[in-house]
Amino acid sequence: MRAVDIIIKKRDHQELTDAEIEWFIQGYTKGEIPDYQVSAWAMAVLLNGMNERETTSLTMAMATSGELLDLSGVVPYAVDKHSTGGVGDKTTLVVAPLVASCGLAVGKMSGRGLGFSGGTLDKLESIPGYRAELSTEEFLDQLAKIGIVVSGQSKDLAPADGKLYALRDVTGTVQSIPLIASSIMSKKIAAGAQAIVLDVKVGYGAFMQNLEDAQYLARLMVEIARQTGRKAVAYLSDMNQPLGNAVGNAIELKEAIQTLQMKGPEDFLEHCLEIASRMLLLGKIVPTQEEAQKMAMDHLEKGKAWEKFVEWISTQGGDVRTIQDPNLLPLAKKEIKIFAPRSGFIHQIHAKKVGLAAMFLGAGRQKKGDPIDFGVGVLVHKKVGDQVQGNELIFTIYAGENSDIDPVKALLFDALIIKDNPAEKYPLFYGVIE
Ligand code: URA
Repeated sequence: MRAVDIIIKKRDHQELTDAEIEWFIQGYTKGEIPDYQVSAWAMAVLLNGMNERETTSLTMAMATSGELLDLSGVVPYAVDKHSTGGVGDKTTLVVAPLVASCGLAVGKMSGRGLGFSGGTLDKLESIPGYRAELSTEEFLDQLAKIGIVVSGQSKDLAPADGKLYALRDVTGTVQSIPLIASSIMSKKIAAGAQAIVLDVKVGYGAFMQNLEDAQYLARLMVEIARQTGRKAVAYLSDMNQPLGNAVGNAIELKEAIQTLQMKGPEDFLEHCLEIASRMLLLGKIVPTQEEAQKMAMDHLEKGKAWEKFVEWISTQGGDVRTIQDPNLLPLAKKEIKIFAPRSGFIHQIHAKKVGLAAMFLGAGRQKKGDPIDFGVGVLVHKKVGDQVQGNELIFTIYAGENSDIDPVKALLFDALIIKDNPAEKYPLFYGVIE
């Protein structure tokens, strides 16, 4: 086989066979097919799509590009969660220790920032010393010992996804339903999840802009789970405005810490309780979601989720002093405040524009392998539906000493729409697909 023929076939709207997909992914993983050919192929997939069979085949090729973990000897039942990516989405940082504190083990493989959306690993790495790259043995050991581990793709686990994910980030090929579905499900399958709660974001700051696409992606992933002997439930959740208030890396981590201490934003807390309780239900820790909600709330209030978070971070090498005193976390020196240009009701805080503003500040990558600045970001002080007075604080920008602030300010002013008439609040969720 030749890589160029596979690219041409997809360019010309033809279906790829399982053997072609497997050969292409294996060749990329081994370094035999170069980035430029895989970029061209990814663009062809983005433009011309893949059917369900091709997507399942791509998922399995990426999952089996490394080891497939079998967690059955380590934990009684492995439940995982994954978000399709959004702005201000720090859910894993709260939900993973929360459900682990309730007795449901979480062994999770997370990703880095992708395009304008943030990534759990980048947020975690704002803690000095945090080790995102673990060997399989370390991953399993930690899961058995403390019931929680969050790592990135390694050379052992779904390495093809690790490479392709970074390449898509910088080649304009993120927004593809088959590429997103296979990326997420290959990680979940490789890490041994038996049940998965999927958080499919929809809106301005999501890769899926409308409910129809989000439903299609959700159904596709639930179906891939079924075909591979797993159970998945997918939430369709709002991403028109950022989730919570903080958008960046260390500032999101700080907001997650506040939430674990019951001092976080309401919308984010509610979102986390819903996802956590569904995980507890799937993991058969409690028989109803109502009881699961109660249990999760109780563990937050009694500080058990916070204790689990501290145990997790210290076991994974993070400097615990920085989470116990988040003022020690990186924070950019320059602070710029943006006030409401007029009085009225907030109709829009465009999540993608806020995400891009954070990315331009250095919270995300412009090209593969770029370093990121953990201390920069944007705090959003209001929500859609809020009434504001002219000159009320809307955004605080945290910028590096030499950042070019003008395009960031322009993006944020552009993200904001204030009108005289009241605006409806966005719901947190638009539905669930089981
Ligand atoms: N999250 C992933 O893991 N992969 C994607 O492609 C998008 C979101």
